[in-house]
Amino acid sequence: MTIAADLRVAAPASSNPSAHRILEDRLTSLYGAVAPKLLARVDRALAQAAQARPEPLRALDAARQSDPDWISRSGETVYTFYVDRFAGDLQGLIDHLDYLQGLGVRWLHPLPLLKAREGESDGGFAVQDYGAVEPALGDMATLERLAAELRARDMGLLLDVVCNHTAREHDWAVKARAGDPHFRAYYRLVTDASEVTRWEEDLVDVFPDTAPGNFTYDADLKAWVWTTFYPFQWDLDYSNPDVFLEMLGILLHLANKGVQGFRLDSAPFLWKRAGTNSRNQPETYAIVEAFRAALEIAAPSVLLLAEAIESLDDVLPFFGVSSAACSLAYNNGVMTALWAALADQDVGIVNRMLGAAAQRPDHGAWLNYVRCHDDLIWNALAQYASADDLQRWSRFYDGGGFSDGRRFQTAPGGVPSTNGMASALVGIGKPGVDQARACARLKLLYGVIHALDGWPLIYMGDELAMGNDVAFLDDPARAKEGRWLHRPDMDWALAAGAEAGGTGSDVLATMRLYGRAAQALNAAGVAGRAIPVHLGAGVLGFERRGGQPFLCLANFTEEAQTVTRPAPYDAPGRDRLTGRDIPSGPLTLAPYELIWWSVVA
Ligand code: GLC
Repeated sequence: MTIAADLRVAAPASSNPSAHRILEDRLTSLYGAVAPKLLARVDRALAQAAQARPEPLRALDAARQSDPDWISRSGETVYTFYVDRFAGDLQGLIDHLDYLQGLGVRWLHPLPLLKAREGESDGGFAVQDYGAVEPALGDMATLERLAAELRARDMGLLLDVVCNHTAREHDWAVKARAGDPHFRAYYRLVTDASEVTRWEEDLVDVFPDTAPGNFTYDADLKAWVWTTFYPFQWDLDYSNPDVFLEMLGILLHLANKGVQGFRLDSAPFLWKRAGTNSRNQPETYAIVEAFRAALEIAAPSVLLLAEAIESLDDVLPFFGVSSAACSLAYNNGVMTALWAALADQDVGIVNRMLGAAAQRPDHGAWLNYVRCHDDLIWNALAQYASADDLQRWSRFYDGGGFSDGRRFQTAPGGVPSTNGMASALVGIGKPGVDQARACARLKLLYGVIHALDGWPLIYMGDELAMGNDVAFLDDPARAKEGRWLHRPDMDWALAAGAEAGGTGSDVLATMRLYGRAAQALNAAGVAGRAIPVHLGAGVLGFERRGGQPFLCLANFTEEAQTVTRPAPYDAPGRDRLTGRDIPSGPLTLAPYELIWWSVVA
């Protein structure tokens, strides 16, 4: 052991005193009198992790620390997918990296790949063993190989950490069911039916049809266990310091396997408080800040991504309240607003959401997306739109207008969210819908998210305009869960055909263009937040404020629209996507046309 390593073992506090102070402070606020003991245990875990950190990962830590603004670069494109549906297993994934790199992808976000419970697992979101890879997908050694291969390509791996709950079959839950008091205290157990009723009064069901209620009676436990999602997903009790320490240990372990970022699944639900809906509690943000501070000490290059599909006001604090927390958060407010604008042919709601999203702190970046593996949640816009608006958008995407989406379950009083692949929601393949326009809508949305500040996310198959997968209805294990509509198997025959100029080639080429164009923004000095520039109801306009002049214009209507650009954007410039020169004066955009205007270099 080297002397340097020795020092790290002895005193993680001294390697990054300010992060350590934050950690101590958060643990004290969360755990009061037991914090000093907990901190000593956390310090030991950090020291061991720091010592065990492989050299290439330390090099990455150093590189990212010397370039703190790297997170704000354009074109850090993420691709999200189920490993089995995309490539069969991890080795298959490694074999397909050229395809992803060709798409401009720099980060992979595979949906959960750690060992899940057998049978129903909510798509892998019910983890039985955080230390093992799902056997059907591979093993830890292959995961490490994948991470190393990605590093060699200057790419990164973002892994899901299902931190709010474990499977009922996780070792902790098994011990809890066997009556071990230490492990019973890892979960939120309630032994009195009236207490369940009291909690339920303030809680909102996430899956009211397929998993009604937030508690599940378990005969082994002789108690109700808190289950926000499915009955086999047991919520952990973060008011127990052991739970914090266990989850931190999992993060540190995976970080040293080469994982460069963690998607904190269901982050809003970590802390429960009577009399509230037990989402987005101040302690939840403090926990994430504590995780960040700990990683800062032992694995500083590792990112946290908040999976918080909530109102934007509740998402922003995931970037940190008193100190930095997540580096990335899903920009679900803007995403949902973009779909709403397409339905209404009116961009008012996008302007509102962009204005709100611009409040993010400098150290945070948005993960901008069009679709993901979950439903599109209209309720998350409730503070920015009227109940009528939400209803109208929900109805529209439930197979109305050009869309071929389907409604998803919602709690009483809520607005049904929407399932469906992006391609189906824009009308590709829907009889009676103009297909050129449908395709233009898909390209418009993806073009906008590549121009925003933050990281663009491509959902598997959207680059080929893959459609809905109704086959799930024939599978009894999935038939009741509408989200499987947009979780098809990757169509590699379609990909090969698109490559050769067949169906899908247009969207694929456009997506590749967006990847290149977004990365080119860096060299062109385009940077900073996306701020709305009002150009009328039908045309979205936003500038990037903080670098060279750049204006994104996007016609969200089926009609040509003529706009007048305010200074300095009324000057002659060039569309960075097509290379076309754009003179000063009024500018006419074709239906669904997208322009990335910047000054001629
Ligand atoms: C997250 C996931 C979702 C899952 C839930 C419970 O919201 O994205 O797919 O059902 O957490 O783990």
